Amino acid sequence: MSLLIKNGRIITAEHDYTADIFIEKEKITTIGVSLDIAADTIINAAGKLVIPGGIDVHTHLDLPSGGTTSSDNFETGTRAAAFGGTTSLIDFATQSKGKKMRTALDTWWAKAEGKATIDYGFHMIVTDLPEADIEDLGGMVREGVTSFKLFMAYPNVLMADDAMIYRTMKYASQKGALVAMHAENGGVIDLLVQQALAEGKTDPIYHCLTRPTTSEGEAVNRTIALSQMAGVPVYIVHVTSNDALEKIAEARDRGLPVFAETCPQYLYLSLDDMHKPGFEDAKLVFSPPLREKWNQDKLWGGVKNNTVQIVSTDHCPFNFHTQKQLGLGNFTKIPNGGPGIEHRMQLMYDGVNNKRISLNRWVEVTSTNPAKMFGMFPQKGTIAPGTDADIVIWDQEKECVISAATHHMAVDYSMYEGKKIKGNAETVISRGEVIVDNDAFLGKAGRGKFIKRSTYGSTWQ
Ligand code: URP
Ligand code: ZN
Ligand code: ZN
Repeated sequence: MSLLIKNGRIITAEHDYTADIFIEKEKITTIGVSLDIAADTIINAAGKLVIPGGIDVHTHLDLPSGGTTSSDNFETGTRAAAFGGTTSLIDFATQSKGKKMRTALDTWWAKAEGKATIDYGFHMIVTDLPEADIEDLGGMVREGVTSFKLFMAYPNVLMADDAMIYRTMKYASQKGALVAMHAENGGVIDLLVQQALAEGKTDPIYHCLTRPTTSEGEAVNRTIALSQMAGVPVYIVHVTSNDALEKIAEARDRGLPVFAETCPQYLYLSLDDMHKPGFEDAKLVFSPPLREKWNQDKLWGGVKNNTVQIVSTDHCPFNFHTQKQLGLGNFTKIPNGGPGIEHRMQLMYDGVNNKRISLNRWVEVTSTNPAKMFGMFPQKGTIAPGTDADIVIWDQEKECVISAATHHMAVDYSMYEGKKIKGNAETVISRGEVIVDNDAFLGKAGRGKFIKRSTYGSTWQ
């Protein structure tokens, strides 16, 4: 099957020009002005933007957590992602303490196979790494799982101590893998949580108030120091605060290979959105938590000036009416996480509308940098001959109102209910196949392929 996209305004991280794109056998083969090539399908993209498909490198689909399981599986989650213009994602396979990484990877493969509608890769969350198992990391890298997430939070469940962090970093660097860090000081947070509960402070807002920004800043600082000692690049996930940002900016000024991501919820929501009546605040319980509003400007600044390279979602949805209710009367029992996989491209495009970032930077932080950072470039993340034909035709005029009543995520609330955005995906193409045409989903469950990723920095400089 061949496809010709005519007259679109092609936006990549670097370029902005009008041309035609010819696609055959899942790849872009030719780009040029007024291409005269016969094609099975022709799409007229005049007046529209043509961008590389979005890449969300931080999702938790079908994740067992807090006595329940995140409500989007690989079928519903990838379908919702596609509607929003995301054509690849990297989910987190999670090693259970005392179990092998191999078991986690097989489990996550089984979750995705036959379900995913877009291409997917995995990071591995390492929770346990006895010296005897260190070579298991090398095994993961050979299978295309070239990044590992560690937690400085959630003692006894996910948290790694400094020795384990250092050991993982050292070994990961030898194998060309990237270490991603959830940076919050879990030990101190645990004490603050116990103190709050003892004082009868059980409402969802105390989830936020027991996780101060200084605990994020401290953990980011420690991550940077450990990575410097181990001599490895490090990627700080879901950065939320100026405390963290300052440490990252300072390390980057010193020339250290320190990278960061933030997520739309931290750019658009704040503590001002909490303090709702009843149990409503549980909808916005995730970690790290929402911060004081002034941090948003700092984060947008970081996205613009490259202190932050990537915007992902940390999509980890739980239904309000059933799952979040597990924490009624005790905020520590609220499953941590929120839905966002569908609206990342739109919310970041709103940043273009509001002059926070340029069109090129929009593409860079939502597609190109994710592909580069995680060993998928140039197969993914750009529009060029020879690359996968993952393309979104974006209508800058198409208005939408975000709502749980109309979204495609399998979750009963939206974090952005009622928010109006001008600009939306119109046609979404994954490896040359149109999978979204306006409101119609044309992709099939199981069509998504596993992305065997390269090692860090091996495919770009
Ligand atoms: O609350 C969150 N973010 N849940 C997902 C797991 C994580 O820490 O990324
Ligand atoms: Zn995390
Ligand atoms: Zn996460």
